[in-house]
Amino acid sequence: MNTDNIIRVDMGRSDANSDNSSERPILCLGIESSCDETSAAIVDSHRNILSHIIYSQIPEHQKYGGVVPELAARAHILAIDTVVRQTLESAGKTVADLDVIAATAGPGLIGGVLVGWMAAVGIAQSTGKPLVAVNHLEGHALVPRLRAAAANGTDGATDVEFPYLLMLASGGHCQILLVRGVGKYELIGQTLDDSAGEAFDKVAKMLGLGYPGGPVVDKRAASGNPTAFHFPRPLCDKPGCDFSFSGIKTAARTFLSRACAPYSDEFINDFCASFQAAVVDCIINRLENAMRDMRVVHAAPKTLVVAGGVAKNSAVRSAMELLAAKHNVVFAAPPMNLCTDNGAMIAWAGLENYIIGNVVKKPVAPRPRWPLTEL
Ligand code: KG4
Ligand code: ZN
Repeated sequence: MNTDNIIRVDMGRSDANSDNSSERPILCLGIESSCDETSAAIVDSHRNILSHIIYSQIPEHQKYGGVVPELAARAHILAIDTVVRQTLESAGKTVADLDVIAATAGPGLIGGVLVGWMAAVGIAQSTGKPLVAVNHLEGHALVPRLRAAAANGTDGATDVEFPYLLMLASGGHCQILLVRGVGKYELIGQTLDDSAGEAFDKVAKMLGLGYPGGPVVDKRAASGNPTAFHFPRPLCDKPGCDFSFSGIKTAARTFLSRACAPYSDEFINDFCASFQAAVVDCIINRLENAMRDMRVVHAAPKTLVVAGGVAKNSAVRSAMELLAAKHNVVFAAPPMNLCTDNGAMIAWAGLENYIIGNVVKKPVAPRPRWPLTEL
């Protein structure tokens, strides 16, 4: 374990967003290990994040151009004790102070999920504390209720109430959901092939920009011309709310097969800006349909939310903010450090589930696939 990769996450406001009641808050320890971050956090029911440690394995996977599941599982094993211990220490707590333990039980790379899950089972069994099996996607979906930020990523104070329309865009998933409550998800649309994050990662790889691709494409796009290359906008002329990103990826490969490497900086910036503009247009087009359909079928939700790693994308955030303003709804997104995988989102989802009594009553087998609609 390379301790240089440990990040102590800035906790942001400690009380501006919290319920200041004098009642003792419920404390939840959450553990995340479903992909390439070993992370743990302690959050409380007043919406404070007491401590948050993220050990990122990205440097270990970078040379392979993506996450290697076997290496990820081994790295989680080496990191988990230190990450959990440091999380408790930096909150000034011991396991005896906790009210509930939560960990990701899927979906994700099963070797990693097992490591975090078994650590949580061990703590819960040795202390007799209740345990919550958190769906990783529910972690992304609920974290804006812990912290919601403005489009530019600065910590805001938006309260995200149910129901809300959620764009969940990560490396593994791309879905539009109506979030009615904890455990209550209605699937409005989803990708038919790649996720948005996967498209960013694959295009970055084609350009030789390394892994993960999203942040670097986002950065390069800021200096590029979004109309320099014409990428397709799959499904955008069709009704419905599903996505398809594989056509954009194929177009990228075709453009690059006709260009000569090494590519100039200007070429890469324009390419990234044009690709990103196509992804953003697809997201906005599908969300427009979702918002229109929603008004017809349901009482329209008053909040539009983005979550998952792609929620860090500056163009996605600002386009969704404009869309929300156009439809007269509030826009909310997690602050940047709570978009990609992290322990705080699992601790928060664990807490919200604990409050409604959704704790583990019999042994749970972690699941590599676990759709939100099966909660
Ligand atoms: O939510 P996450 O950490 O992991 C999964 O649950 O999959 O998301 C990781 C994904 C990666 O595909 C990464 O490239 C993408 O989020 N991502 C971004 C940005 N930052 C991370 N995509 C676009 N723009 C960004 N700034
Ligand atoms: Zn994730």
